[in-house]
Amino acid sequence: MGSDNIESILIENRQFAPNQDFVNRARINADQLAALHQQANDDYTGFWAQQAREALDWHKPFTKILNESKAPHYSWFDDGELNVSYNCIDRHLAKSANKNAIIFEGEQGDTSYITYQELHSRVSTFANALKAKGITSGDRVVIYMPMTPEAVIAMQACARIGAIHSVVFGGFSAESLRDRINDAGAKMLITADGGHRGGKIVELKSAADKALDTSGGCPTIENVIVYQRTAHNIAMQSGRDIWWHDAIKEQSNDCEPTWVNAEHPLFLLYTSGSTGKPKGIQHSSAGYLLGAALTNSWVFDLNDNDIFWCTADVGWITGHTYVAYGPLAVGATIVIYEGAPTVPDAGRFWKMVERHKITVFYTAPTAIRALMKQGDEFPNAYDLSSIRLLGTVGEPINPEAWMWYHTVIGKERCPIVDTWWQTETGCNMITPIPGAMFTKPGSCTKALPGIMADVVDEDGNSITEANKGGYLVITKPFPSMLRTIWGDDERYVDTYYPKFDGRFYLAGDSARKDEDGYFWIMGRIDDVLNVSGHRLGTMEVESALVAHELVAEAAVVGKPHEIKGESIFAYVVLKGERPAGGVDDELTKTLRDWVGEQIGAIAKPDEIRYADNLPKTRSGKIMRRLLRTIAKGEEITSDTSTLENEAILDQLQGKI
Ligand code: PRX
Repeated sequence: MGSDNIESILIENRQFAPNQDFVNRARINADQLAALHQQANDDYTGFWAQQAREALDWHKPFTKILNESKAPHYSWFDDGELNVSYNCIDRHLAKSANKNAIIFEGEQGDTSYITYQELHSRVSTFANALKAKGITSGDRVVIYMPMTPEAVIAMQACARIGAIHSVVFGGFSAESLRDRINDAGAKMLITADGGHRGGKIVELKSAADKALDTSGGCPTIENVIVYQRTAHNIAMQSGRDIWWHDAIKEQSNDCEPTWVNAEHPLFLLYTSGSTGKPKGIQHSSAGYLLGAALTNSWVFDLNDNDIFWCTADVGWITGHTYVAYGPLAVGATIVIYEGAPTVPDAGRFWKMVERHKITVFYTAPTAIRALMKQGDEFPNAYDLSSIRLLGTVGEPINPEAWMWYHTVIGKERCPIVDTWWQTETGCNMITPIPGAMFTKPGSCTKALPGIMADVVDEDGNSITEANKGGYLVITKPFPSMLRTIWGDDERYVDTYYPKFDGRFYLAGDSARKDEDGYFWIMGRIDDVLNVSGHRLGTMEVESALVAHELVAEAAVVGKPHEIKGESIFAYVVLKGERPAGGVDDELTKTLRDWVGEQIGAIAKPDEIRYADNLPKTRSGKIMRRLLRTIAKGEEITSDTSTLENEAILDQLQGKI
């Protein structure tokens, strides 16, 4: 690419075609993609049935495809039976027993390799250990682990015996862990003594103890299995806690998979909403796995000799679909890294690419921006020629970061797949097929075959005018979609089908389509923050703030942030007097730490401004739009006369 193209960085409609080498070996070329779309459009359920038969191994073949009788609670393939762990491991043994399933690197540089045969043995042994502790099909098991192969082994072992896992991100606090365990009614917790991150030990077991032993604890938990990772001193409660290495002692490495119905819940994963407590997103076995397998093949183009590194933690959906399940379902090799991207320096990712000869690399825009800021000398110091495909997820990627990824990491050779999807959709939905489509920096391009995405107006009519924004919807049910919110069917319907007579799945994002029909995600339509590619409900942060004894009221908004996408800006009304000028660094530190303890470090407000009141309408509704404008430091130009307390604006802006 010449300098002309680089200079045109700010023009949004630049197009990048995949290079010919990539196209030649891609799993799907443009003609094949057109054929897939055609098939899906001509015979929607027939298309999905064929995919499900080809991509998955069934213990009992299904005869039914889509069941809409309880819409919007849809089910797929619901008289079929299979096992997810069998599909991810056993079925590859004949051909790939000695192939690496997992390459693991710890933060301190320790490395290990796990073949498919060994993974089979370790998953089976641990599955037998779970059974020995009384875990059976349908029981909930919470996993609160560092990013080590044992996290994946624990997930696969649950899947093997039909237990429903719920992974809680290791960065979440004891309180968040307790809420999730209790909402799921989990019988067992699997954790570790700690993990290594950022040169420190993450104290997982002590957080787990706090969750289980304080504020009412977790009455449903019977046992805690503790994986020894750091070997530092921790407390073990006799009768309840058992070391992983003791639990697997004398267990056989042979465990017949428990065949489950296609609709059997595979896992719950909690995610934030704009109101109320986090939602336990419930995924199915077959539909979910189908989406995971297909997208690892179509979008990440995984072939026999690919080494795939998706940097997401298993605590997020990306770490489920593109680490723990999808790549294994297609028999690929994955890389797992335990630690932080900047240990010992900002070259860690690139050093790992060189060392493990990573061919497909998938990360979040926030990481790309953070590493871009550190300078090109870090990536330039390593051989990145093994990479052939790059991916991003979690938020819209700004064209500047896209171009850096493209030129400095991809050396202008590698297509970039900007993948739009959600915890609820289970797998990529709107994304390029890398060997078959051109890309545009900042656009997630088009929906996959069989995914009917659209942008509609308030009445649910498709917006045909190019570049006009509207609601992003999926107009037909699809196999990998969430089945419900755990224990709350009503909230599921209210959240995802509140409009358009329940005809469309409402993603909660606004979007536009350009002249080429390419989607551009414009942001959330609700009060959900996107911090470093992770969703956080404003309401959760507000509840944490008001739970502090000094705080009377709080309102939280997102503010654009160079690296994190959005930073958290909180307005706080104290029970006592307002600090002079609306700023109090010491109190802010206290409240930040408090929120960190209540939810996790990711939710700490970046800035707090203190006021005597919040801007409210006469009906008492907080005007967040104004708070967002103030947070950005912009002038308020909109009409504020409907405010109950217009005078408060000067205070909120820090003018007095
Ligand atoms: O707003 C969209 C944004 O992240 C939301 C989903 O968040 P979560 O369930 O935490 O899953 C993140 C990983 C899949 C979406 O509603 N989002 C995700 N990917 C993109 C995106 N926004 C723009 N472009 C993307 N590629």
